[in-house]
Parts: sequence; C-alpha cells; structure tokens
Amino acid sequence: MLELIYYKNHIKREVDMCGIVGYVGEKSALDILLEGLTNLEYRGYDSAGIAVNVDGKVELYKAEGKLQNLKDLTSEQREHIIRSKIGIGHIRWATHGAPTTINAHPHSCNCGRVAVVHNGIIENYKELRAKLEKEGCVFRSQTDTETVAHLVAKKYAETKDLTEAVRLATMEIEGAYALAVIHQDVKNTIVATRRNAPLLVGIGEGEFYIASDVPAIIQYTKTAMYLDDNQIVTLTPKTMKLIDINNNELPQKIETLPWEPVALSKMGYKHFMLKEIHEQPDVVRNVLGGKLRTIDENIILNEVTLNKDSLKHLGRIQIVACGTSLHAAMVGKYIIEELCGIAVDVEPSSEYIYRTTVGDEKTLVIGVSQSGETADTITAVRQAKARGSHILIITNRPDSTMAREAGSLVPVNAGIEVSVAATKSYMAQVISFYLLAIYIAEIKQSASKDELQKIKRELILLPQKLEKVLSHKEDVQSCARKFSNSKDFIFIARGINFPTALEGALKLKEISYINATGYTAGELKHGPIAMLDESMPVLAILMKGKVYDKILSNAEEARARNARMIALTNSEDSKLNELFESIIRIPDVDETLSPVLAIVPLQLLAYYIAEFLGKDVDQPRNLAKSVTVE
Ligand code: AGP
Repeated sequence: MLELIYYKNHIKREVDMCGIVGYVGEKSALDILLEGLTNLEYRGYDSAGIAVNVDGKVELYKAEGKLQNLKDLTSEQREHIIRSKIGIGHIRWATHGAPTTINAHPHSCNCGRVAVVHNGIIENYKELRAKLEKEGCVFRSQTDTETVAHLVAKKYAETKDLTEAVRLATMEIEGAYALAVIHQDVKNTIVATRRNAPLLVGIGEGEFYIASDVPAIIQYTKTAMYLDDNQIVTLTPKTMKLIDINNNELPQKIETLPWEPVALSKMGYKHFMLKEIHEQPDVVRNVLGGKLRTIDENIILNEVTLNKDSLKHLGRIQIVACGTSLHAAMVGKYIIEELCGIAVDVEPSSEYIYRTTVGDEKTLVIGVSQSGETADTITAVRQAKARGSHILIITNRPDSTMAREAGSLVPVNAGIEVSVAATKSYMAQVISFYLLAIYIAEIKQSASKDELQKIKRELILLPQKLEKVLSHKEDVQSCARKFSNSKDFIFIARGINFPTALEGALKLKEISYINATGYTAGELKHGPIAMLDESMPVLAILMKGKVYDKILSNAEEARARNARMIALTNSEDSKLNELFESIIRIPDVDETLSPVLAIVPLQLLAYYIAEFLGKDVDQPRNLAKSVTVE
C-alpha cells in the first residue's frame, strides 16, 4: 500500500518529547488540530505534523521548524484535507540530533495504514527496531517512535483490533509515552494511551479531543478525563471506552477543567511574556487570597496535610526544582531558614536523582514546578517518597503528574503561562514560599509575632508596589536600549537577592541569547572580576538592608575595573549617580520581600533587550516549556 506523506524538507534524526493532539467527531479535524498545536507550541517547535483520513486513506503532513511551516504546507491542500473528520497531530522538541522533517511525527509502518504520534522516549527502541527489521519492517526515520508504528501495525495484522494492537504493543515497549494512534482500516477511531507522560481526553457533543495539555482543547470543551498510567482509551465520535493494560474495563473519572480560554489570549500585548509580566500584581493577590487575611490572623494553608506535630519536629527540608523554579526555591530557602530555623537544602532535581541523597520521614521534600511535568523533578520526588519523606508540591498545574503524586499540594494559581520564559509562575512560587515559611513559623513559634506581622503587612502591600514598578518602565527601557548590543552581562547580589541575580541572568540568556551570569557579589573578586573591562555591563541588585554597603563596595570594585555599572535599587541615595551609568529604581520595600519587586525590572530588561534584538520572545530557540525528558 502506498503511504501518502507530504514532506517539506528531508534529512533524518532521533527521539523527542513534545505535545500531541487528536480529534474525532463531526467537524473537520484540520483547523482543530492546527489550533491545538498552536496552543501547545510552548512544548516544542522543532517540527510539526498531522495525520488525517481523507476518503478512507491515512495521509501524513509534516514540516520541519515552526508550526507555521506545517500551516503553509496544509494550506496548499486545504480543500482536500478539510474532508477529514479525524486526525492526530504533533509538535516536537528534539532531544537527540537535528530536528528534521523525516523525523517529525506522525510516523507510520510499511503499509502506511497506521499513524502514530508520541510524546516521551521509548527506551528499548533499538532492540525493538532490530527485531522488527528482521521481520521485514522498513524504517524511514531514526526516531524511537517509528518502532511503535511498526509494532502496532504488526499486532493489528494479528488481532484485527486496534485497541488490542495498541495494548499488546505497550506491553513490549519500555519508557515514557503518551501515544495516539489511528488506522486506515478502523474508521473514525483514535486509540490513545500513556505512561509517565501527560494525556487528557476532552469530551464534546458527538466528538472527542485528546491532548498533552489543557490549552489545546480548552476553547472547545471544559469537560475532560485525565488518563492514568497504562490506561488505554478508544474514542469514536459517540463512544469512549477505557481499559487498563490487562484489558479490564475501567470507570471514567470525568471532571470540569478549572481553566478559561481567555488565558490563552495575548490581550493586546505584543507577546505572552509581556502580558504575563503584567499579570503579576493579580497573581500575588490570587496567591495571597484566602490564605493571608489580616496581619493578626495566622496563615491558612489547608493544602499542607502534614500534621502540625510533624511540622514542628521536621529534621530538615530538601527542595528540588529546575531552572526558574529552582531560583524560586532558593528564595524559599532563605525565608524558611530565617523564619523557621530549619536547615534547607536546595538542589537541581537533575543532580539530586543521580547521587546518594539522605532523607527519611523527618525530612520534608518540596518539589517546585510550574508545569508539574518536569521529568527530573518527578523522578526526584518519587525517589524521596520511596524513602518515606512527605512530599509537598508547589505547582501551577494542580492537574499535573507531580500534583497527582503529592502528599501536600500547594497550587500557586498563576493561570496558564504560555511564554516559554517563566515570569508570573516564578512570582507565584516565591509568594507561596513566604506563605509556607510563615505558616511553619507560626506552628513552630520560631519567629516573633512582630516579625511575622511585619512580613504579612509587606506582603499585603506588594500588589500595589508591583503595579508601580510596571507603570514606570522608562528606566528599564532606556537601559535595555543602551545595553542591547552587549555580548555578556553580569548580575551581582547578596543574600536573599542572589537568586534574583540568577533568575535575571537566566531570563536574559533564554530570550536574548546574551551570555549572562549571576554571581554573589562577594565572589566577584575570586575570579570573575578578571573578565571586567569597559565592555562588560555589571548590574548590581542593591536593596537597602543588611548587605547594602557590602554590595556597594563590590560595585565600586567592579567600577574600578571600568565595568559599565547598572544599579537596580530601592535607595534614593544620590551618591549612586556617580557610581552607576544607569539606575533602575523600584519602590521602597523590606529587604526580606525585596526579591518580589526586584525580579520584575529584570524580567522587563530581558524582554526589551530581546525585542530590540528582534528575537522570538515567546518561543526562544532550543527551548521547550515543559521538559518531560530527563
Ligand atoms: C524558565 O524560564 C525556563 N523556561 C525553565 O528554566 C523552567 O523553569 C524549567 O524547565 C523548570 O520547569 P518547571 O517549573 O515546569 O518544572
């Protein structure tokens, strides 16, 4: 049988993570698939593809690069493709080798009757491939996913039942996957399954959707069913059947999604990142809402299920996270140690999982993740859980894998974050740490009432102060204009704002590709100072408080080496004008709360520099929003 594949470019390559969508119903599938992929583009944008069934034939359309290339490709044959009322689609973030069209999903088998999209990694694909090749399967790509297509085709030839074919195939594959499969001989049917990769079914009237994540379907339906590991769902326009891997029929847990389609609109902003930066005052209000009522009342964190006695006697806390969430965790460490007197270790999840870590039932392990799907963090918390530690998850996605495994779940309520560069979710995570620290301190009575009331008072004032920062962006814009041609950037800070320096540098790296590094200001003289000359901008985060004078001295040392000095400060000190070429001022704020205000100008600085440089702000190269591979 002829396999109909329309390629935009050719070459080859390997496995990936990505996002998948699917539709079966009475409507034309094309626009639903493309729209769904558009809303999943934050998960990857190395290539995209769809499989449809037009007049009884499975057809694949794939294109390398941004989704727009697939849109262009399909628009050339739009009148033909829109006849299909079923389809599956895929957006890819490549993990090994170059991303190309031939390796784009969907993948098919020898006869071209099967189409498969996959998010995850099939770990035993080499063995499976060798076996299938011996049996006559001809592979076109270097992907792990193609083995699934051949395997399903083979099982279907034996059983003449697509659900059974997928079930038998999943019994042979190892690794992580969310899979969606269609077959030319099985009309109007999608079979989907998952193991350690997210997948949900959207339920409409006489139609079903599948997706890796809510944004792909929320504009069509709020009624959905999340699949658990090793469950297999078979969808036709009017029926949904759910089984487990042993072929037992399962009850369907249908729920209403807590999201609104408006979250996916840019609301007049040029980029999602800019919109999300501006949402931060409301994000803080949301996170505080119901938890911090007045400064006289204790923090209410019903989500923490660990009993008060265990909290009082915690031996230590370990926090695991990646990227921006790791920086929020570092702020958390400062506050918890300061207010609760408990030793806190913060570690990148990817390190935590490959060394001997010590923990027990007196260790609280906190996983922080915007997406709740970051593979390294999932593995880290699973390891800690196996050692008997209580697991507390701080996440923006209460519907995520991590949330579902949590002992205590603190949802951060930032709303869907679309831009790959995290901003408002960082804000929400940091605020959640303040609440958690005060909550524990109130139980342990480890900080004075006055101190806690002072912090609560400041927390309540933060949204207004953030609005002030956002309404005075001129300093940041002019600074961005001045320094947008810099090849390197250094951020220095001390104490609780060291994570702010790291996060500011990460934002700049991510979206402008400028080599930016955050240092503790005291470390500068131990090596990095050698890099300073008249071409190097050094941004000092200079917040009034314990370490103000120390950072000022470090800034003077840098100025003496001719570095171009920028201050981010809440000080009105006129002396700063002599030392700094540019000054970005923020409202006065207590040092303990200063990371909340200080990060916003740094997010904006990264944004405006990337804008000046004409970079793709919301979809920076080589990145994906949720990294679901280790
Ligand atoms: C943030 O701007 C990054 N895109 C990235 O570092 C991110 O924070 C990291 O991948 C962790 O993701 P998570 O919070 O969803 O676990």
